[in-house]
Amino acid sequence: MSRVVYPGSFDPITLGHLDIIERSSKLFDEVYVCILNNSAKKTPLFSHEERVNMLESVVKRFGNVYIKQYDGLLVDFAKENNTGIIVRGLRGITDFDSELQMSQGNHKVSPDVETVFLATDPRYSFISSTMVREFLAYGKSVKGFVPDEIIPFIESKVKINQ
Ligand code: PNS
Repeated sequence: MSRVVYPGSFDPITLGHLDIIERSSKLFDEVYVCILNNSAKKTPLFSHEERVNMLESVVKRFGNVYIKQYDGLLVDFAKENNTGIIVRGLRGITDFDSELQMSQGNHKVSPDVETVFLATDPRYSFISSTMVREFLAYGKSVKGFVPDEIIPFIESKVKINQ
């Protein structure tokens, strides 16, 4: 059985993330979407619990996707959950350098763990959670950036200027 982990901060989940989750769910038997801490992103907008709830509401359409969270290293999560495959999306050349370094670092400390990359659907390649948080900080609607299911929750937390 093939189980993969799709890790990220998911602060919040975007349409690009959802596309990678959907495509992974077709390629592999089980997808563990795991919320981890990114030390470069100090002040999350949404709590872990809020991110879990948003992700769960979005992935319930798939039968083989599970939401997890982990306070530690990605490779340790992978080992504890019996998977040796990490999935990451690549939006373009700006992602490539950091993603290559991350996959090589993870492989160095844990040679049994491989990273596979899926090319982001071009419809979503400009979208990032950072951009979503930036628009929200100025009260802009993020419809078309994040899955529709989570818009009511986001708009209950962040005041949107009409
Ligand atoms: O969505 P992001 O912020 O690009 O995801 C990055 C993430 C959370 C996958 C990465 O920062 C991570 O793996 N964090 C857990 C700690 C870890 O394993 N660090 C070593 C690899 S950089």
